[in-house]
Amino acid sequence: MSAPIYRVATLADVNGIAECSAEAMMEDSLFGALWPRRKEFPDQFVSYFASRARERILDHTVVSLISEIPVEENGKEVLKVVGIAQWQKFGKQTPETSWSVYKAAGSKLNGIQDWAYSWFKPKETASDPEAIAGFVKDFTEMEHKFWVKDGKDHDRWHLQFLAVHSMARRRGIGGRLVELGIERAKRDGCDASLEASPMGLPMYKSKGFEVLDTYMMNVKGPDGGPIPSPILMWKNPEVKR
Ligand SMILES: CC(C)(COP(=O)(O)OP(=O)(O)OC[C@H]1O[C@@H](n2cnc3c(N)ncnc32)[C@H](O)[C@@H]1OP(=O)(O)O)[C@@H](O)C(=O)NCCC(=O)NCCS
Repeated sequence: MSAPIYRVATLADVNGIAECSAEAMMEDSLFGALWPRRKEFPDQFVSYFASRARERILDHTVVSLISEIPVEENGKEVLKVVGIAQWQKFGKQTPETSWSVYKAAGSKLNGIQDWAYSWFKPKETASDPEAIAGFVKDFTEMEHKFWVKDGKDHDRWHLQFLAVHSMARRRGIGGRLVELGIERAKRDGCDASLEASPMGLPMYKSKGFEVLDTYMMNVKGPDGGPIPSPILMWKNPEVKR
């Protein structure tokens, strides 16, 4: 098989990212709790990821990295998105992640576009809005408690989302997308951080992340209990604390 390609995503990649994300998260326990009818309505699950992908590509604090491999479709070789990592800068901004009027206008337009689409789309039925609202509230509180000190965000690149399509797993793609974020954090003289899913934990540990704490998500997992989400950090030895 040919070597995967790694690059920064653009708006043209939104559909590829959405399809890859939905496939990779179909069996994930957190998404299972928030999107209980995702298997009945897979298109709605894909649309959700498309909207998130667009939002994050247009967010000036986020770098969306993708991995592609050549696959055969209708007798032609095409590149397929098989991995996605969304890294967000918190704390000190760099020239490329800081605010600009063009970037801000782009994000606003995305919000307006989502609102306009919502008038034409059938009412979304695959998710559980109450579970999502509860999760967002709890998760925001946890993030604030854990990462904000004296009103300041910990200076870091934070991995908001990582997914590798099941057809391309255990080939080093997830690991490389994580390493690219660590390399960037080294260059910017800050740490790298993330909240792991149970499935991602062994890979993050293998890349040098340390478990700082474990947050129990207030949603019911497949066994009826809360889902653990270990909070990890890769500490840059160059950073003076
Ligand atoms: C977790 C995930 C991103 C890993 O991607 P991947 O491309 O398969 O990972 P890699 O091939 O780079 O794995 C690197 C190393 O991590 C470890 N690892 C990865 N997946 C593992 C698994 N399922 N069980 C145990 N170890 C694993 C191994 O040490 C592996 O090296 P090896 O294959 O040489 O043994 C992928 O399984 C996935 O998308 N899962 C569903 C979504 C998810 O859980 N995302 C993480 C959210 S925080």
